[in-house]
Amino acid sequence: MTNIKDSLLLPMGTTLDRFIMRNQAHFPFATGELSQLLRDIALASKIVNREINRAGLINISGSVGSMNVQGEDQQKLDVVADVRFTRAITNGGEVCAIISEEHDDMIDTGNHKGKYIMAMDPLDGSSNIDVNVAVGTIFSIYRRLSPIGTPPDLADVLQKGSRQVAAGYILYGSSTMLVYTTGHGVFGFTYEPSLGEYYLSHANMRIPATGSIYSCNEANMHTFPEPVRQVIDNMRHEGASSRYIGSFVADFHRNLFKGGIFMYPETAKSPKGKLRLMYECNPMAFLIEQAGGLATDGTRRILDIEPTNLHQRCPLYVGSKELVERVVKQYELAQVPA
Ligand code: AHG
Ligand code: MN
Ligand code: MN
Repeated sequence: MTNIKDSLLLPMGTTLDRFIMRNQAHFPFATGELSQLLRDIALASKIVNREINRAGLINISGSVGSMNVQGEDQQKLDVVADVRFTRAITNGGEVCAIISEEHDDMIDTGNHKGKYIMAMDPLDGSSNIDVNVAVGTIFSIYRRLSPIGTPPDLADVLQKGSRQVAAGYILYGSSTMLVYTTGHGVFGFTYEPSLGEYYLSHANMRIPATGSIYSCNEANMHTFPEPVRQVIDNMRHEGASSRYIGSFVADFHRNLFKGGIFMYPETAKSPKGKLRLMYECNPMAFLIEQAGGLATDGTRRILDIEPTNLHQRCPLYVGSKELVERVVKQYELAQVPA
């Protein structure tokens, strides 16, 4: 057993800031802007984390429409998260345009010298916001295509997922974690609230090659495409478990650790799928591929889909390689004429 004196000699651990700084060397010609942007995202997430932790109290001290201690209108947490992230990223100066679930149009931040574009789902898991169940933030970063110094345009924000330079999520759960990739593996950091720092807790995360968890809204099962029903039926016969929180970030995070597949197919209610390509599917597809898994819409690799609309939806099957391959296989079989 380690005594107190020995435990004080243990290394303190690597903070997110230090990790980002050390890994800047991975990027040829890096000037530090991407590093700064990742730090801005981490900062905004700490503020959002604080708001989420106080969520129950906000309702005690006043409902929506009343003022909080900062004299601002109290808003639903997804709006609060959107404002916090948008402000932090705009103040940082590295991003020229933002797309957010909470805004119909692209936001021109006014930082026309900024090299980067960010897409985000500021708060994922709306149905869980008010009931103390895990929620998240998802982000995706691209390099702009238009010349630096000019206003950003639609082509800058409508790039396919394979062009992402970084992506990640923050899970506000039983502990808060930030998980991200810059294309050199997936790294997870756990928030230490008393120190206000993220510490590296999960280096080089890998999803198990297969698993026994499937995650989908089973109430929609009768309207799932036949190939997907076939995969689920096979998994059930193998003794799989069904796990569905209804917060994509939380469902994804669990499956990343345990092995499994998350599915949001096209359904009668959501004929094009429910999740959004630019700020839900693409960032998670980048992360899962970096962790050794796969992401498809059934017939196409998610990262190869050419976007045409900021808020377009797409069916999503993401997780352990072997399980996602089953979906692809069933789609292929369905296309072969009998
Ligand atoms: P958001 O809260 O950002 O709108 O996303 C909700 C998404 C996702 O988090 C979750 O996986 C899915 O909606 C749940 O949808 P159903 O309620 O249709 O199952
Ligand atoms: Mn979402
Ligand atoms: Mn959302």
